[in-house]
Amino acid sequence: MDSILVTGNGPLSGQIPIAGAKNACLTLMPATLLSEDPLTLTNAPRLSDIKTMTQLLQSLGAEVSSLQDGQVLAMSSHDLTSHTADYDIVRKMRASNLVLGPMLARLGQAVVSLPGGCAIGARPMDLHVEGLEALGAEIELKDGYLHAKALGGLKGAVHEMRFASVGATENIVMAATLAKGTTVLKNAAREPEIVDLVNCLRKMGAQIAGEGTSTIEIQGVDRLHGATHQVVSDRIELGTYMLVPAICGGEVELLGGRKSLVESFASKLEEAGVSISETAKGLKVSRKNGPVTSVDVITEPFPGFPTDLQAQMMALMCTAQGVSVLEERIFENRFMHAPELVRMGAQIEVHGGTAKVTGVDQLKGAPVMATDLRASVSLILAGLAAEGETTVSRVYHLDRGYEHVVGKLEGVGAKIERIKSQ
Ligand code: UD1
Repeated sequence: MDSILVTGNGPLSGQIPIAGAKNACLTLMPATLLSEDPLTLTNAPRLSDIKTMTQLLQSLGAEVSSLQDGQVLAMSSHDLTSHTADYDIVRKMRASNLVLGPMLARLGQAVVSLPGGCAIGARPMDLHVEGLEALGAEIELKDGYLHAKALGGLKGAVHEMRFASVGATENIVMAATLAKGTTVLKNAAREPEIVDLVNCLRKMGAQIAGEGTSTIEIQGVDRLHGATHQVVSDRIELGTYMLVPAICGGEVELLGGRKSLVESFASKLEEAGVSISETAKGLKVSRKNGPVTSVDVITEPFPGFPTDLQAQMMALMCTAQGVSVLEERIFENRFMHAPELVRMGAQIEVHGGTAKVTGVDQLKGAPVMATDLRASVSLILAGLAAEGETTVSRVYHLDRGYEHVVGKLEGVGAKIERIKSQ
């Protein structure tokens, strides 16, 4: 397994291009299953999770071609040959469950493996199931698979989710586009990736209103047609690289970044003493005078502070002046990066869903292990600020969500290299 070697070398400056959003692309790709006509996505990120979704769609009979070095995905679901999402693929990536709603709506049946355990928490699918059942689906669990049927077609309904789950919102909205009548989804998630999905579905002929708010209304139509859609910028990649000048000092321009994608995160950074300004090409972030000040963070559904930036923010807080408290409210086991950061000299105490971080003057390089996608990049950020060498192993987690991380960081002057396994 490859590892990444980082050597802290002071302030970093330059430009970093932000890719299309992994999490948007992973819900836009299954939307192809809703129509017989082609769906083309531009600005797709080059990531292993996108390859996994490609494999899954191909296993269902969809055609997926990766063009222009992977930035364009040309898909067609004209002739679907299967309605089963196999455990071998689903266990690699939870977002595989996003084929459930579209298959059920288009084919009247779907069999999707439950994703099983995940490093950052249990992540069940009860909210997806409840929403689809409200639309008239019959769903049962057999041999680890959800068997869903709606042979007479789905029917619009009013449904309120118990929690604003991102994936459940996406599955229910996609399913409702082809249901008979009107669906009103209450307590829906408001993430920008959902807005992006709805924009694409609308181009395909869906009738939807209210995306980006807690109530989404979908008027079912008989069929959806083809479309071309540009994937929205990745706000998590954006937030991660905004932390580069915050933790190392310097000034970095994030090309394609927009403040509206990371409002709550950006205001925490500003509170900590980081400067952020919008430019014609994106966002400019800088820290020039001394270390940042500690701030407290609570993760919440959008527009709150994103759980997917909690690990990276913790790395910054390890180097801040003062004590900060980070509370994780979305996932029950998302502090696995803490003991790795402690190996680098950080002072962190974890109690349940809360971590108390006391800033230290200087992190020290160490061999550390990536435990999940966002944890792995938090260790790289810490390595950039540390004295000496940090080796991050198990970087396959990183390949799931960050394209060209080494090249992007080298571009702003970081000393970083990928060490190939023997
Ligand atoms: C998506 C993102 C992920 C992000 C998360 C929260 C994708 C591909 N992934 O994941 O990066 O961290 O949103 O912003 O978009 N839950 C249930 N029952 C369900 C569904 C979820 O209890 O049926 C719980 C989960 O265990 C978790 C919480 O709800 O504790 C949030 O999950 P959800 O919003 O569904 O996240 P995902 O869509 O899986």
